[in-house]
Amino acid sequence: MGDVRDNGGCSPLPGFEATMTLAPSAVSATSSSHDTRPDDLVRWGVVGTGRIARRFAQGLAHVPHARIHASWSRRAAPTQAFADGFGGEPCASFDALLASGIDALYIATVQDSHAGYAIAALQAGLHVLCEKPATINREQLERVIEAARVNDRLFMEAMKPPFYPLYRKLRAHLVADPIGTVGLVRAGCSVPGVPDDHPSLSFEHAGGALLDIGIYEMFLAVDWLGDVREVQTLGRLGKTGVDTFASLNSQHEQGIAQLFCGLDLHGKGDALLMAGAGHVTIHEPWWNPSRATIRYADGRVVELDEPFEGGGLNYETAHFCELIRTGQKESPLMPHSKSLQMIAMADAARQALGLKFAGE
Ligand SMILES: NC(=O)c1ccc[n+]([C@@H]2O[C@H](COP(=O)([O-])OP(=O)(O)OC[C@H]3O[C@@H](n4cnc5c(N)ncnc54)[C@H](OP(=O)(O)O)[C@@H]3O)[C@@H](O)[C@H]2O)c1
Repeated sequence: MGDVRDNGGCSPLPGFEATMTLAPSAVSATSSSHDTRPDDLVRWGVVGTGRIARRFAQGLAHVPHARIHASWSRRAAPTQAFADGFGGEPCASFDALLASGIDALYIATVQDSHAGYAIAALQAGLHVLCEKPATINREQLERVIEAARVNDRLFMEAMKPPFYPLYRKLRAHLVADPIGTVGLVRAGCSVPGVPDDHPSLSFEHAGGALLDIGIYEMFLAVDWLGDVREVQTLGRLGKTGVDTFASLNSQHEQGIAQLFCGLDLHGKGDALLMAGAGHVTIHEPWWNPSRATIRYADGRVVELDEPFEGGGLNYETAHFCELIRTGQKESPLMPHSKSLQMIAMADAARQALGLKFAGE
């Protein structure tokens, strides 16, 4: 995966504009990548330098012993601006990024390119944290997971909610003071007003509400209800060819999920988990959770309030770094099996809507 701008490595390129302001916490992360460092330092490479890559980099300032070592995206100016803002070397090609001395690659490009970058990085001996959706379909994800297995590297989909303090506190609370087995998950989010040229609406880049937003809800369903058995879907495609609204009912090992995701109606949602002895509301936006209310059938009400720091992506990143340090190849909180179940749900929903992407 070379690039016409390849100058043979990762170094400042002439003519790049620096457009980003240095955050005080990011400044310390911009020192030379070749200085003395503790053995447990995780050196990150970043492919794609857009919105989520910046949020990842801001969060990294809250992760101990981790820093940006190098970055690359196809356009030179944003690559340089990212390096100016968050540290590390701007690379001139993806191959140069892989060879830059990084330990792990964070994939922050649009989703049609995730599988290719993930497989190449795993084959290069790197650990991979890949933005959601990990791939655009199950067949691609199986190939990525196989590459992780063959190369004995860590791969994880960057599905942020389970790593937030609130989500972990909720899990622990329900073990100590249970509501019973969750049998219904209801969750949804719909964000209108997305410009037609946004990647979320791009057919070429495999956008659409299901892969952009619905994948979070599919995570919630699989996380609380187990493996999926059946998915029923209603929805619509918009003028760019991708789904702009979908409503799913899915049957899982332990119960039923009612999910919606959209790019044309306004409905930022909370999430509901129902069990025999109580129910939980994870307040909106449940995918960046900080508050939950547990109502027990005996009348007790428990409020959980766990603010998050660093923008929220830092928790999954810290977890990933710890997995590297302890030699683990799969996350116990976000294992491959969950990603496979989630993308299988998305595949089934897209099939029901008649939405196929290039090459499918
Ligand atoms: N976890 C979350 O909270 C969250 C939130 C938003 C988005 N996301 C996910 O993050 C990913 C990126 O979303 P975004 O909002 O950051 O998009 P974005 O702002 O459009 O940024 C995408 C970046 O990827 C680069 N890029 C695109 N295609 C590429 C390719 N083939 N090779 C190399 N670089 C490429 C673009 O720069 P060049 O054009 O210069 O290459 C740009 O820097 C998506 O998968 C999205 O679903 C996650």
